[in-house]
Amino acid sequence: MTVSIERTGDIAVVTIDNPPVNALSHALRQDLWNAAEALDADPSVRAVILICEGRTFIAGADVNEFGKPPIPPHLPDLVARIETAAKPWVAAIHGSALGGGFEVALGCRFRVAVPSASVGLPEVRLGIVPGAGGTVRLPRLVGPALAAEMVTTGTPVAAPKARSQGLIDAIVEGDLEKGAIDFAHAALDQSLPLPLSQRGVPTVDETFWETTRRAVASRAKREDAPLRALACVRKAAEADFEGAIAFERQTFLELRGSSQAAALRHVFFAERAAPRPPELTGVEPRAIRSAAVIGGGTMGAGIAAALRDAGLPVTLVERDEVALERGLSNLRSIFEGAVKRGKITAETAAERLSGVTDTIDYSRLAGVDLVIEAVFEDLEVKREVFDKLSAVCRLDAVLATNTSYLDPEQIAGNIRHPERFLGLHFFSPAHVMKLLEIVPTAQTAPATLATGFALARMLGKVPVRAGICDGFIGNRILKTTRAQAERLLLSGATPQAVDTAMRAFGLPMGPFEAQDLGGLDIAGFQRRAARARGETPFAPIAERLCALERFGQKSGGGWYDYAKGDRSPQPSKVVAGIIAEEAGRTPQRQWDESGIIDCIILPMVNEATKILQEKVALRAEDIDLVEIHGYGYPRWRGGLMHYAEARGLAEIAVKLSELAAMDLAEPANFTGD
Ligand code: 3HC
Ligand code: NAI
Repeated sequence: MTVSIERTGDIAVVTIDNPPVNALSHALRQDLWNAAEALDADPSVRAVILICEGRTFIAGADVNEFGKPPIPPHLPDLVARIETAAKPWVAAIHGSALGGGFEVALGCRFRVAVPSASVGLPEVRLGIVPGAGGTVRLPRLVGPALAAEMVTTGTPVAAPKARSQGLIDAIVEGDLEKGAIDFAHAALDQSLPLPLSQRGVPTVDETFWETTRRAVASRAKREDAPLRALACVRKAAEADFEGAIAFERQTFLELRGSSQAAALRHVFFAERAAPRPPELTGVEPRAIRSAAVIGGGTMGAGIAAALRDAGLPVTLVERDEVALERGLSNLRSIFEGAVKRGKITAETAAERLSGVTDTIDYSRLAGVDLVIEAVFEDLEVKREVFDKLSAVCRLDAVLATNTSYLDPEQIAGNIRHPERFLGLHFFSPAHVMKLLEIVPTAQTAPATLATGFALARMLGKVPVRAGICDGFIGNRILKTTRAQAERLLLSGATPQAVDTAMRAFGLPMGPFEAQDLGGLDIAGFQRRAARARGETPFAPIAERLCALERFGQKSGGGWYDYAKGDRSPQPSKVVAGIIAEEAGRTPQRQWDESGIIDCIILPMVNEATKILQEKVALRAEDIDLVEIHGYGYPRWRGGLMHYAEARGLAEIAVKLSELAAMDLAEPANFTGD
């Protein structure tokens, strides 16, 4: 039984209990329908409170049912049933009222919520539009402007703001059920407001729709749902209620079966599964109550900020007083930046900073639960650091390295109790980027690994387990991306053509613009280290640019030229000359957009498949999460592996064979460096 009914005097309380998030499964819809029928027939009931057990109010339609044919009672009918009930219903909200959950609340005559609750219509994030009247009732409640913003961004609104915007009628401090009953009694003493379906939509300025359409289109890029959601709100303003409901439902059903919705659903479930991998079921993580970071450079400062954001006290260790002062100043600028962007208040920033103990004395680490090393990418320097940590830290403290390319097995060297060691590979900027690659060595204990995942949960990161190889999952695939991009240049494409094609595919930036932004020197150092290890990295043009100190935007030129104070990339004659020289006799071809995309993306798929075969990644979804959260791969394509599946593996194999036969530089070699 997912719904129970109790009576308190003349008020009925309908309680939903459908763990984990009270999603509107078929059984729940049926139970709610039955409850509405029963309560309408009960003359002793004057009003109904709708409240939920567990962590949240109804979090939406049941996404698991999206692949299946809908079974009645359909959600729009249920919302209409509640709205037309003989007694007014009051939604009593805690946690989140999202999607279909908020639509049910809009069907209720009133909405009250605890201060920590939030409400919203996040359907566009799943590639769909609200399907149970959300786009039609919301503009009747708060006007088209706020409705358009909510349905096109999907961003939930916190209760205090929701109250001031008219999305909810009251905030309940203290016990929600009691507060809702008191609210209902007070409301019954006055005349009831009209149900939303019977209200009109406030008019907007003539220019509103076109201005908003342009803004939404530029934000959404190639995602379909946001513009379709806006069209629904417009319909609500221009047609009658029934017409608008029919239009919304039609749009919802169309998008529900779309490839973008399938991709976004795939990412939704992958993200939710990531923090709790099945192989660690039942393994207790170690408790993390304090942490230390060694090195306060780009990564160390970002990691320390992320740890402080999660409320952990942090000790920051540097090699000398000057470096320590620089590290603290890096950390300070991160928090100041957050204040400037309105993310936190100046007081919170001061509190975060005051939770950092700075020192050059390793003995101060004797009591910490977790240490993350982020010093120079140099094996000897890192090994020295871990020798010191091994000497001073508690034997059960978890010790982690943030290395990008070094072998964690070698870094662990001869520390005492190597079972507590692992790689925790953050991405830059570490306090912003969601991806965390968790890299166990052969000796890492399951409890240590579980601690890595528990830490990711604390920090709000998306954790992915990665095996040891050059670059782990993400940077190994990145090497293929970059090698293919250079091969394209050697065979007739220009940097602009490559970048434009990859943007058209959905990446926020093309590979060359991205390198100019991040700096070509970092990859240059890595290639030098790889050569020292006896490898032969493939980056003939990038090498020449590094030799000319064309490191990107910071040096006024890289793959492109940059005018002083202007970040817009300009084609470079110098680079064109170098490309021509390096190309030599390589056959030149005409590349169109889809040819460029295939030449980069399909070898990435190939490399990712090897990563999967070698068990460097355990699941295809993990690779998808790495690409989306570490490298800006478009969510609506579902990640690299989902894209490959959706396109069809047979076609990909054929295209890869064609590429191999093209005789690009380093023919038939799609393994990157
Ligand atoms: N349907 C089915 N399962 C859902 C679900 C949904 N709408 N929302 C969450 N779940 C599941 C998760 O998959 C997870 O399952 P698991 O434990 O087996 O891995 C479990 O519920 C818990 O989810 P979280 O780990 O995300 O729990 P949190 O407490 O961190 O967050 C939440 C709770 C804020 C409600 C978050 O789950 C969330 O944002 N859910 C999605 C809400 C949403 O997108 N709703 C709109 C759905 S579409 C819709 O309603 C269409 C309508 O207009 C017709
Ligand atoms: P960085 O050069 O900005 O910072 C390194 C810091 O370590 C410096 O502040 C230095 O003073 C300090 N340090 C050096 N030796 C030390 C010692 N013995 N004890 C204490 N502190 C010491 O380097 P960055 O970019 O922060 O990289 C750090 C690590 O993170 C490297 O292993 C790098 O490969 C890895 N990494 C870097 C990423 C990036 O984008 N920059 C991304 C992911 C990982």
